[in-house]
Amino acid sequence: MKILAIETSCDETSASIISDGILLSNIISTQIEFHKKWGGVVPSLAQRLHREKIDIVIKRAFTIAGTNIEDIDYIAVTNGPGLAIALGVGIEKAKELSIKYNKPLIPVNHMMGHIYAAFSSTSNPYTNFNFPYMALLVSGGHTELVYMKNHGEFTKIGETLDDAIGEAYDKVSKMLDLGYPGGPIISKLAKEGNEKKYKLTIPMRLSDNYNFSYSGLKTATSRLINQIKETENFDKSVISNIAATFQYTAVEEILIKLQKALDNYEVVGLILGGGVSANTYLRSKLRKICKSRNISFMYPNSKKLCTDNAGMIATAAYQMVKNNVEYEKDINKIDREPDLSF
Ligand code: KG4
Ligand code: ZN
Repeated sequence: MKILAIETSCDETSASIISDGILLSNIISTQIEFHKKWGGVVPSLAQRLHREKIDIVIKRAFTIAGTNIEDIDYIAVTNGPGLAIALGVGIEKAKELSIKYNKPLIPVNHMMGHIYAAFSSTSNPYTNFNFPYMALLVSGGHTELVYMKNHGEFTKIGETLDDAIGEAYDKVSKMLDLGYPGGPIISKLAKEGNEKKYKLTIPMRLSDNYNFSYSGLKTATSRLINQIKETENFDKSVISNIAATFQYTAVEEILIKLQKALDNYEVVGLILGGGVSANTYLRSKLRKICKSRNISFMYPNSKKLCTDNAGMIATAAYQMVKNNVEYEKDINKIDREPDLSF
């Protein structure tokens, strides 16, 4: 079974071909350089760049995979959540190809894609599913805890009430004039810093639920930066200490809520997904938690599969078909769903 998957929910134009669960290609054209100077993604610019790149990216995905559209059984496309006008470009293209070549269309939830990224492989299709799992999804747009009972059976048990963790990394990086995206920059600096040098309050630590909040931490970090600027020499070691303190506090919030969820939901493993899953500090903390609880820890096996890519959408679509997960089959009813949720 071969699937062409298309992903345009944010600032990567991506297409992938999967064959019987094995990724043959996963082409990503990133727009980061174009959005950089604005410190975040500009939707109208994202839409224009997706339109410019989509055909080239799909063509390349077929070339690398050594196949063509006649050979494809399904076309999968991200239908949400994401930026409406960006999602629209991928959906429009997927529908056009679906009608022209008479291939069934599969709408895929972007967050489900981030979960299945942990099971994406270029060599062996993952078969060792052993439910239930807890999924921790951490990206620029989302911070969620999702209980996965089976293929297609997801329950969101907690989410951010305001900013996402990746967004907080991006904003702190912007405050420090370090560039975009902030996650890799802040986490690299944090390695050289002292996370106990300053103190920031861990948000939501006493709240009796699995929700998150990052807007207060962002404001507190901004206040801390201004205070330090008045009293200390604002050099690289000071900036590293701020980065380390911010990262410690942001990740600690995740760990507190995750531990609470793992206390109350019996699972066989933790799945980590989303752009922030590339963070090695977070991964090492999670690895320890999973080890102490004797549960498995799964995360994407390459950086490419952490941030947005069509390979994860292809993997999700493959598992949906293989496991008879229901989805909307009427092409006229498939449309962008910017606020799609589990
Ligand atoms: O999943 P993604 O590509 O896009 C969304 O769906 O949001 O995630 C992008 C986010 C950005 O906020 C970026 O700063 C963050 O992931 N990120 C990281 C790291 N690499 C990317 N955050 C922390 N540490 C990293 N190493
Ligand atoms: Zn994403």
